[in-house]
Amino acid sequence: MARVVITGRIPAEAVTKLREQHDVDAWPDDQTIPRGVMLQKVAGADAVATLLTEQVDDEFLDAAGDQLKIVANVAVGYNNIDVPACQRRSVLVTNTPRVLTDATADTAFGLLLNVTRRFGEGERLVRSGASWQWGMFFLLGTGLQGKTLGIIGMGQIGVAMAKRAAAFGMRVVYTDDHALDAQLQRELGATQVGLSELLKSSDVITVHCPYLDSTHHLLSTEQFAAMKNTAFVVNSARGPIVDEEALVQALRDGQIAGAGLDVYENEPTVHPALREMQNVVLLPHLGSATIETRTAMAVLAADNINAVLAGGQPMTAVSQ
Ligand code: GLV
Repeated sequence: MARVVITGRIPAEAVTKLREQHDVDAWPDDQTIPRGVMLQKVAGADAVATLLTEQVDDEFLDAAGDQLKIVANVAVGYNNIDVPACQRRSVLVTNTPRVLTDATADTAFGLLLNVTRRFGEGERLVRSGASWQWGMFFLLGTGLQGKTLGIIGMGQIGVAMAKRAAAFGMRVVYTDDHALDAQLQRELGATQVGLSELLKSSDVITVHCPYLDSTHHLLSTEQFAAMKNTAFVVNSARGPIVDEEALVQALRDGQIAGAGLDVYENEPTVHPALREMQNVVLLPHLGSATIETRTAMAVLAADNINAVLAGGQPMTAVSQ
């Protein structure tokens, strides 16, 4: 029997699928597995299902050993995995695209609505027990209709975001290395532009690109300075794509109007200044956090492992 290690608690359906065929060692806890424990457990594994909180690097691969065939990340983002190191050792890497597209776009759009309409501020006010009264000018937000959404990274989640924006009457501009298929671009009413054009023309800027060396601090001081003072920034991709210190400064200086964040540069630590700002909505990395989506992600990772251990091809290999 092949040995499969699961480094965090994942939905039972996926564990069952793996247990039917393999000897499975599953970390049972919601708390992240201690690194030392993980390195011991992966020794001799043929396959490992990892969560985004685990770093897969040379040390991990050395600890696992030469028999390791696949690392199946239960996430679409795989910046926690040193893919070239895996490739050097012929270890396949898979992720979980598509199954989390809608859940993640819903989270990003939720942040967008929350921050532009000041729902977080209103909720905190009511919850605090402070007195309040309906008023013509009370907690006025910014309407979305006719405004421009700038999407950085037009992959599947970017496209799902554009569909939501169209339903809310927003105009869409986007940046990506690839242009959308012309028909889809027409359907979405989206226009491809350069980053500087996107920054200066957008009322809301939302980040949906992968985290790579080339996207580290893609939004920093210079980019915030180029945005409208009335612009909002949403990040549900990966924290370090946005320079958090520069974001705090831009918010302090009124260079932008607000931000909605699901991810952080030093997750799970959140910059203390952000926690003090009323015009910032903060979520604890909930992008794909629905029962249905997390189950589908884990099952896809299990199917990838089962396919590879049976000598076949995975469904969703990471290409580099
Ligand atoms: C979540 O952040 C993911 O990459 O799936």
